[in-house]
Amino acid sequence: MSEPTSSTEAVTSDVRARIRPLLRTRQVRSFTNEPVDPAALEALLDVARWSGSSRNEQPWRFVLVRDAVTIRRLAAAGLPQTRLLETAPAAIVIVVPDEPGRAVSRSYDEGRVAERLLIGAGLLDLAAGIAWIRGEVEPAVRELLGLPADWLVRTIVGVGRPTSEARRPKSAPGRARLPREELVHRERWGG
Ligand SMILES: Cc1cc2nc3c(=O)[nH]c(=O)nc-3n(C[C@H](O)[C@H](O)[C@H](O)COP(=O)(O)O)c2cc1C
Repeated sequence: MSEPTSSTEAVTSDVRARIRPLLRTRQVRSFTNEPVDPAALEALLDVARWSGSSRNEQPWRFVLVRDAVTIRRLAAAGLPQTRLLETAPAAIVIVVPDEPGRAVSRSYDEGRVAERLLIGAGLLDLAAGIAWIRGEVEPAVRELLGLPADWLVRTIVGVGRPTSEARRPKSAPGRARLPREELVHRERWGG
């Protein structure tokens, strides 16, 4: 029989291994031209559908775009933020109601769904990235997708297989995020 694992280090590495898909979720901005399995895209749409939202209002609607011409036009409309759509083989457009009084709540919900899509893509051996749609770009996106007037788009998530360049670390080891001591206070501010 094997020894019970009691060292803190062993527990920590087990926890880290389990949490790894989240720690590895990164923004990808260049994709191979391999098409994405339609079943994977449907699974991602279910991930989006199951995201939590304020009062469970599920304010979002999603436009799945697989047509390369449309995706490249979306890319061209919003550069440089949309550059990942120059290569993405699929895109999920997050559409939310345009209600000035609920702007904070709607954008909070939108952030939750966007991040879940990035995590879901990683779990499916795909990758994804957020393309932010600036206010002045929005009319062009609206036109390309045929959106009604009382809905808006701030986020388009490009999905695909990352190129080897996109897989490479973007910064020196340990430099991509602020150190834990700087970010986390214990029990009270400054602790
Ligand atoms: C609200 C939000 C908007 C973002 N907009 C863009 C964008 O328009 N274009 C882009 O290439 N990356 C965008 N990003 C990705 C960030 O630049 C990226 O998450 C950050 O640089 C960290 O990189 P990493 O996830 O690869 O570690 C956005 C991220 C967030 C949270």
